[in-house]
Amino acid sequence: MGQEAPTILATPQNNVLTTNNGNPVDDNQNSMTAGEFGPVLIQDFHLIDKLARFDRERIPERVVHAKGSGAHGFFEVTADLSQLTCAKFLEKPGIKTPVFARFSTVGGEKGTSDSLRDPRGFALKFYTEEGNWDMVGNNTPVFFIRDPLKFPDFIHTQKRNPQTNLKDPDAYWDFLSLTPESLHQVTILFSNRGTPYSFRHMNGYSSHTLKLVNSQGIAHLVKWHFKTDQGIRNHTAEEAKKLDTENPDSNTEDLFESIEKGDFPSWTVYLQAMKEEDAAKYRWNVFDVTKVWPHSDYPLQKIGKLTLNRNPKNYFAEVEQAAFSPSHMVPGIDVTNDKMLQGRLFSYPDTHRHRLGTNYLQLPINQPYRTIVANYQRDGPMNFSENFNNAPNYEPQSRDPKGPAQQDHDIRVRPSSVQLYGATGRYPFRKSDDDFVQPGNLYRLLKGKEQDDLVGNLIDHMSKVKNLEIIKRQIALFNKADPTWGVRVEEGLKARGKKL
Ligand code: NDP
Ligand code: HEM
Repeated sequence: MGQEAPTILATPQNNVLTTNNGNPVDDNQNSMTAGEFGPVLIQDFHLIDKLARFDRERIPERVVHAKGSGAHGFFEVTADLSQLTCAKFLEKPGIKTPVFARFSTVGGEKGTSDSLRDPRGFALKFYTEEGNWDMVGNNTPVFFIRDPLKFPDFIHTQKRNPQTNLKDPDAYWDFLSLTPESLHQVTILFSNRGTPYSFRHMNGYSSHTLKLVNSQGIAHLVKWHFKTDQGIRNHTAEEAKKLDTENPDSNTEDLFESIEKGDFPSWTVYLQAMKEEDAAKYRWNVFDVTKVWPHSDYPLQKIGKLTLNRNPKNYFAEVEQAAFSPSHMVPGIDVTNDKMLQGRLFSYPDTHRHRLGTNYLQLPINQPYRTIVANYQRDGPMNFSENFNNAPNYEPQSRDPKGPAQQDHDIRVRPSSVQLYGATGRYPFRKSDDDFVQPGNLYRLLKGKEQDDLVGNLIDHMSKVKNLEIIKRQIALFNKADPTWGVRVEEGLKARGKKL
């Protein structure tokens, strides 16, 4: 397992240096010139092609999650899930599926430090026999916002100021203090979980409510939890700051070195499952990604284990070109009405077409290599498949009776249907308008030093905000979640000279 991952085209081992079109190269040290001291000749294809190729080495970095590390491994089912899903790779205990994982920081550029306070991406590509399923989650069970319309604005507050090109704490807290639903994620982010010790020592969550559908077409709403078998381990703010300068690639190094020496990280995988019809009666809007389902309401069911046991051979080919999308689904797993999730279904393939090109799914790391892709779609830039040779490129067609045909006889393949009602419109969230209970529960769950660190980390970050109105607005949000919380942050900021 883990050895079945896509073959990355390797350099031939015959020692002959060639141009990109395969011609043997006579000299890789001296450009061709007109006479010993004359100008360089444009006929030197090897030189021109080598420079032109180099000029184009960088592809656009991911607009978010630009810095990341990846590894190969496998997922093994450990429970009978037939009541929940007909997904073939979850059919019975013992089934193993190859997986590629990518972990990342979110807001910074590709060269950013691994130890910055930030959520961490937790993206998994399951290479199943029915195509790839991507679980594109984070190391937090919730998110800052719950409507995709807000995503570009939210991300802009973490990027650089359009004038100064500096990080802008005022913009960051301005947006958060005007977005009360962000408080839950802010609590997790400013706890010590916001600076994980390594990618191996953090949990992963689908965060969104997804759907599992069984062979009778019965759907359950589910949340995925990947709990680290290495144990949760975090840096304090001081440790993280030190690493920012001493080893900004600490998490990249940790993952690679651990796997290299055979210390394979693993995660025990759990589901929370809810009957579809119970969602309407539940206290929380299950399609609000700023909320968790308390474990006491929906206990975690152990279903499998994820193990990472093989490093990429080439970072660019396997990690930089990896393209995950929440819309990459398989029969038995389906989407829900979570608005954020719906926005993401569009956004990821769209950005991949921009970042990697139309044929991004032909790249070895992204290929659904355990099945055969067959359809009537063709061509496009950088199409390096056989392009279905001379097979018909339209449907319906009668030329090839064995040509790919839709599978409408198979209930497993049909998307599960949802009852809808009401008029179209732009509706705010109503049912979850209590955005303070869950952050307050978490604040109170953190005891002693853990709670002190949360408060201290907030004071540290908010002390960089210049506009006092923004600070006061955010303190009011903390106080709504717990009366001691905002007061403590306020006192700390006053002690740092803020005239609140
Ligand atoms: P429970 O007591 O059943 O669950 C508490 C959970 O809190 C733990 O299992 C752990 O989740 C998580 N936790 C512990 N320390 C931290 C921390 N420093 N930062 C983030 N999470 C932490 O209570 P509830 O289910 O009612 O949850 C209470 C609060 O815990 C929630 O409001 C939420 O903020 C947070 N939480 C809840 C999760 C859930 O799915 N219910 C998942 C993660 C956090 P884990 O074992 O997954 O690390
Ligand atoms: C990466 C958009 C919310 C997890 C990305 C990328 C985009 C994006 C454009 C870059 C992808 C690439 O270039 O390969 C959005 C939008 C969101 C949203 C529009 C909300 C509407 C979320 C949420 C989560 C999440 C809620 C987690 C639950 C990730 C992860 C990656 C990522 C893990 C990195 C994937 C990788 O490793 O390549 N997102 N995102 N995103 N996003 Fe989101």
